Amino acid sequence: MSRPIVIVGAGVIGLDVALLLAEQGYGPSITVIAEHLPGDTSINYTSPWAGANFSAISGGDANALRWDKYGYQHMMKLAEEHGTEACISKTPSFEYWDELPSKTKIESMSGYLEDFAMLDIKDIPKGCQFGVSFTTITVNAPRYIQYLYRLLQEQYGVQFVRQRLPSIKAGFSDISTKIVFNCTGNGARHLPGVEDAKSYPTRGQILLTKAPQITKNVMRHGKDYETYIIPRPQSNGSVILGGYMQKGVSTGDTFSRESESIVERTTTLLPELLTPGMEVLAAFSGLRPSREGGARVERTSIQLDELRNGILVHNYGAGGTGFQAGLGMARDAVNAVEDVLRSISREKSRL
Ligand SMILES: Cc1cc2nc3c(=O)[nH]c(=O)nc-3n(C[C@H](O)[C@H](O)[C@H](O)COP(=O)(O)OP(=O)(O)OC[C@H]3O[C@@H](n4cnc5c(N)ncnc54)[C@H](O)[C@@H]3O)c2cc1C
Ligand SMILES: *[C@@H]1O[C@H](CO)[C@@H](O)[C@H](O)[C@H]1NC(C)=O
Ligand SMILES: *[C@@H]1O[C@H](CO)[C@@H](O)[C@H](O)[C@H]1NC(C)=O
Ligand SMILES: *[C@@H]1O[C@H](CO)[C@@H](O)[C@H](O)[C@H]1NC(C)=O
Ligand SMILES: *[C@@H]1O[C@H](CO)[C@@H](O)[C@H](O)[C@H]1NC(C)=O
Repeated sequence: MSRPIVIVGAGVIGLDVALLLAEQGYGPSITVIAEHLPGDTSINYTSPWAGANFSAISGGDANALRWDKYGYQHMMKLAEEHGTEACISKTPSFEYWDELPSKTKIESMSGYLEDFAMLDIKDIPKGCQFGVSFTTITVNAPRYIQYLYRLLQEQYGVQFVRQRLPSIKAGFSDISTKIVFNCTGNGARHLPGVEDAKSYPTRGQILLTKAPQITKNVMRHGKDYETYIIPRPQSNGSVILGGYMQKGVSTGDTFSRESESIVERTTTLLPELLTPGMEVLAAFSGLRPSREGGARVERTSIQLDELRNGILVHNYGAGGTGFQAGLGMARDAVNAVEDVLRSISREKSRL
């Protein structure tokens, strides 16, 4: 079996790269190598722990604005065409800020978000300075990555191998490998060959609750806190409540005082949670793979031995926005190796 394209990592970031390449006809040339695969749960595997929704929480730099726009448009289409199988749905969303958000950010988002409106000050919670409403995308994170996993194998012939690589060079162990995509999330900090000191985890704790009466997404962005309510599509009434953004904290433990704070903040923000009532099913903790300066999507080359250089594309550090920005990041990662891809054969049927 030859392995022209290797993707290390099977979180949403690696799966998004596989999806874009498979859509271009490269499915049978792709091998995804990962220690954790969709369906697994581990503190070292962030994707199953996400809310997840599309929100204005992402950064205001040019990359983030572009990735968000592409991700939103792609996922709205997915919600329309395959929403049920993919566990993605369009959901009304309300976001509030204690302090005014960046103008560039709001201007960019207002240009493409469906049903975008700025809210009147009398319609936003006390203590907030600004609010918007729009139609967002909510994603049942663990089910969505399992959907991509099945789709990639069954419809596109992508191979998955469960293996922990000792270094990024090991991704090139097959002589036929031309490109390796490094989509290792938090693994990036310690993986020999990558060892990115700018990478750090941002811990979040969330509650999985049952509250079928909730049909909208609500977020409040505080100066040093984040409170949010996200209904999970195709889940029979599950709602995710959060949250926390703890920079540099890497414990997978959950804390009852944090659960209490989440319940208090979310029920204040959305009292409908208490009518007729909600049931707290579980508390989880997840580590957002963050990076100073934002995500790294970059082509580099790595010396494998005297004769051989490998093409390595970094794609990690998505932080709190891997679901909303992942497809845009994947597009940049794939575009960076267009010249190399031309030498790899494609399935004619998909061209
Ligand atoms: C509480 C919480 C809420 C969130 N909510 C949202 C949200 O609403 N919207 C949103 O967009 N994002 C959200 N996020 C962020 C999102 O979950 C992350 O950005 C995303 O999951 C990162 O994906 P990833 O593929 O980079 O990393 P991961 O999912 O961690 O995947 C890393 C992969 O690399 C593999 N790997 C690592 N090292 C090695 C190695 N040496 N050898 C082999 N394999 C290796 C792992 O096994 C795994 O397969 C949230 C995160 C948390 C914690
Ligand atoms: C998670 O990864 C860290 C760093 O590689 C490792 O020390 C730890 O044992 C891992 N934890 C689990 C539960 O796999
Ligand atoms: C909602 O989305 C933002 C950005 O995508 C994310 O940081 C936040 O954690 C999400 N909320 C939940 C409950 O996942
Ligand atoms: C892959 O990216 C991670 C994240 O920064 C990094 O630590 C690691 O060194 C990279 N691996 C390789 C082989 O480049
Ligand atoms: C959905 O939840 C209700 C009430 O909790 C339960 O009676 C029903 O069987 C569930 N349906 C599915 C498909 O899980």
